[in-house]
Amino acid sequence: MPEVHVHAPEPASPGLAERYAATRSLSEALCAPLSEADATIQSMPDASPAKWHLAHTTWFFETFLLRDRLPGYRLFDARWPFLFNSYYEGEGERIARPRRGMLSRPTLAEIREWRAHVDAAMQRLLADPAMAGLVELGLAHEQQHQELLLTDIKHALFQNPLGPAMWERRSDTPGANIGQVAWHPHPGGLALIGHDGDGFAFDNEGPRHRVLLDPFALAERLVTNGEWNEFIAGGGYSAPSLWLSDGWAWVQRERIAAPLYWRDGEHFTHAGWQPRDPAAPVTHVSYYEADAFAAWAGARLPTEFEWEALAQEEDSIGGNQLDTAGPPLPRGGNELFGDCWQWTRSAYLPYPRFRPAAGAAGEYNGKFMSSQFVLRGASCATVRGHSRVSYRNFFYPHQRWQFTGVRLAKDL
Ligand SMILES: [Fe+2]
Repeated sequence: MPEVHVHAPEPASPGLAERYAATRSLSEALCAPLSEADATIQSMPDASPAKWHLAHTTWFFETFLLRDRLPGYRLFDARWPFLFNSYYEGEGERIARPRRGMLSRPTLAEIREWRAHVDAAMQRLLADPAMAGLVELGLAHEQQHQELLLTDIKHALFQNPLGPAMWERRSDTPGANIGQVAWHPHPGGLALIGHDGDGFAFDNEGPRHRVLLDPFALAERLVTNGEWNEFIAGGGYSAPSLWLSDGWAWVQRERIAAPLYWRDGEHFTHAGWQPRDPAAPVTHVSYYEADAFAAWAGARLPTEFEWEALAQEEDSIGGNQLDTAGPPLPRGGNELFGDCWQWTRSAYLPYPRFRPAAGAAGEYNGKFMSSQFVLRGASCATVRGHSRVSYRNFFYPHQRWQFTGVRLAKDL
C-alpha cells in the first residue's frame, strides 16, 4: 500500500478538490426531483435505481481510496459493500444485479449521509499527489454513472402509464438537421488512433497505435427523426434484406417497429411525453437498427477508427452535453460530440499491446471486451468535460436505452 502524504504543499492537480466537489454535488442535483420511490425502483436488469447509483459511486471512493489508502478509516457500514459493489470480483460476493430494485433500505437519506461522510474523509486525500490518479478515475467513474442514472430513471419513469416528468420541458431550440446530408471526405492513409497519454483516459483508450484507412467520408450530421419516419414508412422494419440475421431475429422476437420511447408523433423524455422534432437527431436506436437504416440509406456505419481520424481536430466539449440539472434532449448540429452517442461497426476489442491494469482497476474495462460494439462521441446526457476524441463507449447490439444515434459513412 502506498504511503499517504497528508502534508503535500501543492494541490494534487489543478482544481482537483473543486472538481471533486462539483462532480459529487451534480449527482445529488440530478436526483433532487426524485421521490424515494422514484429513486428505488429498477425497470430492467440493465438499469439500476438512482439511489443505487448514488451509493455505488460512493462505494467506489470508500473502497479504493479511503479503505485502501487512508490509515485508520472505518467503513460507514460494513454490510453495504455487498449491496453496492457492481461487478468487481476482486471485492467478493455482491447482490445480483436484477435485485438492486429490492433495496428499500438503506433509505435515500441514509445514502446521502454516507455520501457526506465519504466526502468529508476524502478531503484528506484530495491534496495528495500520489492519490490523484485514483481520484481522477473515481470522478470519471461517477460521471459515467451520472449518464447511466439519467438514462435509467428515464426508462423507469417510462414504465408508468401516467408518463411522469422529473423536469419541466426545456425552452425549445428546434433541431438543426434538415435537408440533404453533406459529406466530410477523408483521403485515408495511416492514422494514429488512441489516447496520447496527456491527461486522464480510461485504459481501453490506449495504447496509441497505427491504423491504415481507405478513403472514406463521414456524414456531417446525425440521422434525424424525420429520416427515421421515412425509414419506417418505407417498410424498413419489415424488410429482412436490410437486417443482420441477429437483428432480424431481434425485431421479430421483440416486435420492434420504431425507436424506443416513440408513440405516434411523440417521444418520452425526462419532461414526460413531448412532440417529436423531425429535425432533431433520432436517438434510442440499437446497433441492429442503426445498421439496417444505413443499408436502407445506401451507406454504412463508420468504423471507430474512421470516426476518430476525422474527429481529431474537433472540440470535444463544444457540443450539446449535460452541464446543468435540466432535461437532456438531443438538439442536432454538426458536432461529433454531444446529442447522441454514435454507433460504429467496430467490435469492442483491445488495441494492440493492451494490458489491463493490475488490481481492481483492471476490472474496469478489459473484461467486457466481447460481443459489444463501440460507440463514439458523447450524448446530451454526458456531462461536459467527460468526453474525449479517443473515448470508447460500448454496448450490446440490442441495447438502446442510452442516447444512441446514427452518423452514416461511405467508401470513396
Ligand atoms: Fe461503476
